[in-house]
Amino acid sequence: MTTARKPRLLFLLTGSISCYKACFAISRLVQAGIEVRTVATPSALKFVGGATLEGLTGHPVASDLWESGKAMDHINLARWADLALVAPATANTINRLSSGLSDDLVGSLFLAWEIQKKPWWIAPAMNVAMFNHPLTQASLKKLTDTGVRVLPTGSGALACGEEGEGRLIEPEQLLAQVLAELGSKIA
Ligand SMILES: Cc1cc2nc3c(=O)[nH]c(=O)nc-3n(C[C@H](O)[C@H](O)[C@H](O)COP(=O)(O)O)c2cc1C
Repeated sequence: MTTARKPRLLFLLTGSISCYKACFAISRLVQAGIEVRTVATPSALKFVGGATLEGLTGHPVASDLWESGKAMDHINLARWADLALVAPATANTINRLSSGLSDDLVGSLFLAWEIQKKPWWIAPAMNVAMFNHPLTQASLKKLTDTGVRVLPTGSGALACGEEGEGRLIEPEQLLAQVLAELGSKIA
């Protein structure tokens, strides 16, 4: 007899002020019946606490590639998940991923992810100039060409006080996108 399992989302947070919006999205996703595990860069953990992410998901947050006892997380989590979502995705992480750098947990997970078989999404979040910078735009194109889905950004007031493109899309939109991808697998 096979037991239906919950759809599995690997939710990766990077160091943007909009990490608080990601927490709201994670809460809604868990309530919707998705099993969520989180990865947070050290920068992301300056914006939200590991206890918040563990409390929301029921699982400890992974952050350090070298953490004792979790040394194979960069492979195990890549095999575990049905979908990976980097939200918020910083300019730094976008540019790093597009270069295939793997000297941290997020980069190692990305390279270990079987991109032809399972979706990897990123939701950019940054200042308008960082978003429009030719290097960032080139990285987004390179990632798209590699099979990554780049979610749209919102436009309007940014945390830095400037206006324009680059806001993280709203939690309700993230929820809707993930449910459209994984919702049919909810038992
Ligand atoms: C208050 C504050 C807010 C920041 N917000 C953003 C942001 O929204 N997007 C971004 O790309 N970088 C932002 N940064 C810069 C990143 O945190 C920085 O580039 C960091 O190295 C990113 O590391 P990570 O990609 O490994 O998380 C912010 C920095 C500070 C101090």
